[in-house]
Amino acid sequence: MSDLALAIVGGTGVYRLAALEDVESFFPETRFGLPSGPVRIGTLAGHRVAFLARHGEGHGVPPHRINYRANLAALQLAGASRVLALNTVGGITPRYAPGALGCPDQLIDYTWGRISTICEEPGSEVLHVDFGDPYTPSLRRSILAAAQHAGIEVVDGGCYGATQGPRLETKAEIARLRRDGCDLVGMTGMPEAALARELGLDYACLAIVANWAAGAGPDPDEKITLEAVLATVEAASARLPALLQALLALPAE
Ligand code: HPA
Repeated sequence: MSDLALAIVGGTGVYRLAALEDVESFFPETRFGLPSGPVRIGTLAGHRVAFLARHGEGHGVPPHRINYRANLAALQLAGASRVLALNTVGGITPRYAPGALGCPDQLIDYTWGRISTICEEPGSEVLHVDFGDPYTPSLRRSILAAAQHAGIEVVDGGCYGATQGPRLETKAEIARLRRDGCDLVGMTGMPEAALARELGLDYACLAIVANWAAGAGPDPDEKITLEAVLATVEAASARLPALLQALLALPAE
């Protein structure tokens, strides 16, 4: 299976791609174990596309328990060479207000205790991949060009702070992330991006801003609720099909 145009990993609130047609399921045992759920492979705007729900289709897998290696390996077995990661995030800086879509160009990893390399097993070759630009620049360019063609606003650039979760952050933690230069915060950006680089996959993040991060919004005491997060993601996701169609229509760089 190698004619796959794009693989998409869905985050919180994005558990399926309604626009995918003629869907087949693929649930392989990879060399890293089982992915979070089946890979759904189908046709979108005339192109073969694979979709995988990062947390499982029923959102049963918390961020620190996701088998990121198996998820990416399963997509690779399905024929993927480029991966669009949808990540639901909290916004820290003004251009990342709730409802915004963004394509960050940097990240800082605050996660711990996650298997973050494919060189974990004794005897495996040790890799020191270049990770200065954690997201594949050509795929980022394609996403931004597609957004422009489709008339959809996508914030260009920004720094993703990857936190451990599953709890949300304290106001002090978000203030620290802001001082560090983070624009958005999520729990699943790492180690996924680094593993994709080790596996030789093109990889970029399309962040969906679901809420103001703790203390970052106009009402610093506003509580973050799952209901509000899901409602904002659902509304923002309405722009995804047109963006994906435009992305698939572009020749891959
Ligand atoms: N913090 C971390 N992860 C998130 C948030 C947040 O505020 N919102 C959605 N995912």
